[in-house]
Amino acid sequence: MDLIYLDHAATTPFDKEVMNEALPYFLENYGNADSPHALGRKAMGAVDEARDTVAALLSARKNEVYFTSGGTEADNWAVLGGAWAKRREGRTKVLLSAVEHHAVLSCGERLAKEGFTVEYIPVNAGGRVELSALENAIDDDTALVGLMSVNNETGVLQPVREASEIAHAHGALFFTDAVQSAPHIPIRVDELGADMLSFSAHKFYGPKGVGVLYIKNGVKVDKLVAGGEQERGMRGGTVNVPLVVALAKAYEKCRRDMQATNEKLRALSTLFLREISVLDGVHRNGENALPCLLNLRFEGVTNTSFLYNMDLQGVCLAAGSACASASVKPSHVLTAMGLTDEQAKECVRISLGKDNTEAEILRAAQLTVETVNRLRNM
Ligand SMILES: Cc1ncc(COP(=O)(O)O)c(C=O)c1O
Repeated sequence: MDLIYLDHAATTPFDKEVMNEALPYFLENYGNADSPHALGRKAMGAVDEARDTVAALLSARKNEVYFTSGGTEADNWAVLGGAWAKRREGRTKVLLSAVEHHAVLSCGERLAKEGFTVEYIPVNAGGRVELSALENAIDDDTALVGLMSVNNETGVLQPVREASEIAHAHGALFFTDAVQSAPHIPIRVDELGADMLSFSAHKFYGPKGVGVLYIKNGVKVDKLVAGGEQERGMRGGTVNVPLVVALAKAYEKCRRDMQATNEKLRALSTLFLREISVLDGVHRNGENALPCLLNLRFEGVTNTSFLYNMDLQGVCLAAGSACASASVKPSHVLTAMGLTDEQAKECVRISLGKDNTEAEILRAAQLTVETVNRLRNM
């Protein structure tokens, strides 16, 4: 059975062309980028070039780009490292949106155990953070504000620029997790106003296990990974040269094709929604969301049954974020938007990708209609 993959917000397939460009750094050019010999210099040259590429695409400076082991590490580093550094100024409050990824929320839990006051900023029914609540919660004791650029479960775009202005007016650091926006929205750090920004290669057809943390020059952030002097003394560990090369190539390609990809995804998403419109009791969660990420509630159908049945028919999709998909807990994102636990358990995430075809979308929509009807009649 040919599988239909509709879970691109969880991960994307590794682009073969990108993989081939990275392959020499696994094989013949295997040097350690810190070694003082020809192979080391070759490796360092490749890392340098990758850093140049990423910096130029972000409108950042080269020394503001740090390579990490993925989005989770970059998020941990930004939230923990930023809060720890600001504590030395006597600031002990951290404000995070209620709908952040667990890579950020779990840092909030840790900081609370370390004595920080951690508050969660609510979102409205459309999934967008309430800026007035941020205004009310922030004060001159605030170390850091964290607001993701795009939510991974609903695709909702967040008011990052406005939140950064509020944070800066109170002398707090502003961090945005751009893991889900990087594949679809051209990031310009100078326009966003972020002190720190994270993203991850496997969301834009790069490999898993490599990401970026942008740290604006002059912003003090403590180290998270201690060790050698890699990444200008800020992150220990031998640099993963092939993955870094692949990240830069994948991101370059993603940015080059972004407009065309987004247009294709919008058309596929419209087609899917049109085809399933024969069903009653379907609700889309989230306002002002990326077209390619559909969070849908099918009234009267539990998401675990739906997923299981779709999987049996060869369609791969998700109940929420991949990290939480093994848990039966209702999504914290959807309950923060006001859904009841029961309603949240009726929601699924369908995320489209650049290689999906019209035929796949038509088939997936047909199977969705049949499966929802069958489960409702049981
Ligand atoms: C919004 C968001 N942040 C962070 C992560 C974690 O990234 P990684 O899988 O590279 O650790 C993800 C991945 O699902 C994500 O969607």
